[in-house]
Amino acid sequence: MELNGVNQHVMLCNGKSCTKNGADEVTEAIRNEIKSLGLAQKIHTTKTLCNGQCKRGPTVIAYPEGVWYKHMTADSGRQLVQRLQKEEQLDEHISYTHNGTSFHPYNDQGE
Ligand code: FES
Repeated sequence: MELNGVNQHVMLCNGKSCTKNGADEVTEAIRNEIKSLGLAQKIHTTKTLCNGQCKRGPTVIAYPEGVWYKHMTADSGRQLVQRLQKEEQLDEHISYTHNGTSFHPYNDQGE
């Protein structure tokens, strides 16, 4: 894989718990949306094992911003790709953001 020109790396949790909650569909939807929008040279994806956020799964993490997304679905996965294309975030699914020093919960809803 040539990374020259890639500007986003999206980690797709495919650990046991996330898989039980639909990670396969999320992975397929995100990868298909990347292809259909012609972004394969811009957005690289990697399937991962558990990221330690099982209660919030399926989990998706986007770098370089370091934004962790929770409760992802096929639909929200497609929306995420469209947002990333515009250098935006999918606010309604964010669990953690990174401020350049460390990760922080996105809101105080505690879930
Ligand atoms: S299996 Fe995805 S966070 Fe644990």
